[in-house]
Amino acid sequence: MFPCYTKQKYSILIIRIKFRKYWNMEKFETIGEWSEDKLDILGKYSHAYTTILNKHKLTSIYVDAFAGKGEYRSKKTGNKIKGSALNALTIKPSFDVYYFVEMDLKKVDTLEDKVGSQKNVTIFKGDCSKILLNDVLPNIEYSQFKRGLCFLDPYGIHLDWTVIKAAAEMGTIELFVNFSIMDINRNFKKADISEVRPSDMQRMNQTCGSDDWKNFLFDTSMSLFGDVSEKKSNEDIAKWFQNRLKQVAGFSYVPKPIPMKNSIGRTVYYLYFASQNNTADKIIKDIFSKYGR
Ligand SMILES: C[S@@+](CC[C@H](N)C(=O)[O-])C[C@H]1O[C@@H](n2cnc3c(N)ncnc32)[C@H](O)[C@@H]1O
Repeated sequence: MFPCYTKQKYSILIIRIKFRKYWNMEKFETIGEWSEDKLDILGKYSHAYTTILNKHKLTSIYVDAFAGKGEYRSKKTGNKIKGSALNALTIKPSFDVYYFVEMDLKKVDTLEDKVGSQKNVTIFKGDCSKILLNDVLPNIEYSQFKRGLCFLDPYGIHLDWTVIKAAAEMGTIELFVNFSIMDINRNFKKADISEVRPSDMQRMNQTCGSDDWKNFLFDTSMSLFGDVSEKKSNEDIAKWFQNRLKQVAGFSYVPKPIPMKNSIGRTVYYLYFASQNNTADKIIKDIFSKYGR
């Protein structure tokens, strides 16, 4: 035994050596196949995006609003996987500028250790809504030949409609949006609106930009037998948010989102793409057609 080790410390050391494979694995969040698909889709589109922007001599900007810490482990294979932020740095041709935003300070530290020294990478700590509205989006001006690809990837219904609307109005931004149907099914599809918690209502209002979702989710139509409230299906809800991105936010092109499903076939979230560009729409439809079945 090493002289400086007590019996207890020594036992822990032995356990760590024996199970080092599993010990190391704990350091990484694991991600399911649907998240790997998400990263694939993002990677494929990003490649097409930077290729086209390069050709037109436009400045390409990648914005990861919910950046995470950049590395995970695959649930399926156990292999290490780059998250959306670090993955964006591997895209060829590369983006000209990268903006990463993350609220969790530990994750920010990890990102900074890995890529903080790269000149064209800016890492913001804090709430992405404020940072996007004040520091990031205003920098992506049409007149300065800048274009941005922005990824909004929260864990649940934690989007901010003002950011989505601002992105649509700028005309320079294309968006990938994660819309968590699992959160809606858990917390919003109640028998009655009065069962939805006020804090949940607040985040749904913020995500959708108003409380119109109440009329839609709790739509009561008259029948011969009195009022009936029919619960909306995942597809109905997905279509409703798709229309909202077009008609209320003002994106010209919002193709049908793809359902990202877990290993038992339940949809975890819908992945949307929204843009003002016809070519972008064609490219993403082609990519989406290969996923989400
Ligand atoms: C689903 S994870 C992002 C995964 C990442 N996009 C990827 O694919 O590698 C969501 C991340 O958003 C961060 N987050 C949550 N709310 C945020 C906010 N308001 N502003 C910035 N980051 C936030 C969380 O700490 C978490 O790391």
